[in-house]
Amino acid sequence: MEGNVRTAEQGKKDSPGESEISVSQLNRDDSVKPCVMVVLGASGDLTRRKLMPALYHLDRQGLLGERFILVGFARSPKDDEQFRREMAEAVEKHVPGEAFSQEAWRRFSARLHYLSGRYDDPQSYEALTRFLREAGIPCGSHGLLMYLATPPSVTEAALNCMRRSLFHKAGGRDNKSRLMIEKPFGWDLASARRLNQVLGEMFSESQIYRIDHYLAKDTIQNILVLRFANAIFEPLWNRKYIDNVQITAAEEIGVENRGSYYEQAGVVRDMLQSHVLQVLSLVAMEPPVAGDAESVRDKKVEVFKSVTPIERDDYVLGQYRGYGGEPSVNPSSTTPTFVAARLFINNWRWQGVPFYVRSGKCLAKKLTEVTIQFANVPLCVLRTEGVCPVSQPNRLIIRIQPDEGIQLSFSTRVPGWDEETALASMDFRYASFGARLPDAYERILLDGMRGNPTLFWRADGIEAAWQVITPLLQAPGETAPPVLYEPGSWGPPEAEHRKRPANPCSL
Ligand code: BG6
Repeated sequence: MEGNVRTAEQGKKDSPGESEISVSQLNRDDSVKPCVMVVLGASGDLTRRKLMPALYHLDRQGLLGERFILVGFARSPKDDEQFRREMAEAVEKHVPGEAFSQEAWRRFSARLHYLSGRYDDPQSYEALTRFLREAGIPCGSHGLLMYLATPPSVTEAALNCMRRSLFHKAGGRDNKSRLMIEKPFGWDLASARRLNQVLGEMFSESQIYRIDHYLAKDTIQNILVLRFANAIFEPLWNRKYIDNVQITAAEEIGVENRGSYYEQAGVVRDMLQSHVLQVLSLVAMEPPVAGDAESVRDKKVEVFKSVTPIERDDYVLGQYRGYGGEPSVNPSSTTPTFVAARLFINNWRWQGVPFYVRSGKCLAKKLTEVTIQFANVPLCVLRTEGVCPVSQPNRLIIRIQPDEGIQLSFSTRVPGWDEETALASMDFRYASFGARLPDAYERILLDGMRGNPTLFWRADGIEAAWQVITPLLQAPGETAPPVLYEPGSWGPPEAEHRKRPANPCSL
């Protein structure tokens, strides 16, 4: 263990009372399962930007339970106080304005502790074991939630090391603790399989929560409600009435300070393999037999298994101009920051319907949406003087973010003497509920604590998704340089011609 690693004794001195938690006390808390959360990778970007703000909000809503504590674990040596100060800065930055209260932070931050160690050092896990024991939390108890926010390059080594340590073994056969693991889950199909195998030797599937925070966005969960709680859409939701589906996850920001991670991940691993394919599966899946986690996940896996192998002509990879100058990025990098691909789902419902997926950084604006473009009318009976006034197909646009809502467009007659039509739309905005949309990480953390796996990847699903994108992951050195595009644009023009134009009525 490194010299500066904080000991459990120090922890008690730092915050008397906070460490004196017994499992029986924790068990009395029904609102959320008892929880000691150990975050591996606690000094990383994700902990600052997402986890801490989400936990702070949960605490303010009284959803964490009285006895929740968090133990941050990472390589850099620091003590509880420094960790709390750094987290305060991060939360203040990401929870701006009135939502941040000094008083609420003071109460919440007393629950934060820090332990430094190396992810691949067995001694560090022994130190963690001692810390938890002295805090009254037996390793392996169902009150323990491990959160792996480690750099992807060390995740496998960390798990292997943890597996051999007392920290994991102490739970024995009855180990009831849970493990949440951040994306990307592996780097390709082979590494994802290896990770699944390691995890499978440590936990049962019901204890493993593979994170995809897009699944936890309210607007993405609503795709299932829209499809399966309304009678009007499902009869149209197939190849007979839908011409194409477009899924866009565009970001205005570049790679910011995540250059070294992004260099290895690129947009295909970072966004396509995970978030975009998850959205695709919700749009395309068959109705599940019930709403429980396994029934829903079964149907999603079927979608991934039905995607036909992507061919070279079906995708474009791009890179924004200036990417090579970002911090920690190789100036001659070929890492793609933009992808546009055309996928086909080879089943009875979708045969022949293209799904156009697109994601990129440094694009014109932040926008995640799904457009269902319906087929045109089979025959234009309103034709006057040889011209059909119906020029635009119906579209259902599911706006995931921002300005969350759903829009249905349709042709309508323009009042007056001319035989003219225009496109009108029915618009629903989530803002009309007047309620705050919880951040996806709030939902993820709460579901992990409550043991609800619905919004997480299952082992077979994640492997099937890697299989889908394998054709886009070529061996290093073989990768063709991506097409350059201007920051602030919608990506390389080459991506556009792969999109089928709106289907004008020509009948
Ligand atoms: C993360 C990616 O998973 O999702 C980031 O690693 C990306 O590169 C982010 O910026 C986008 O998430 P959101 O919720 O802001 O759309």
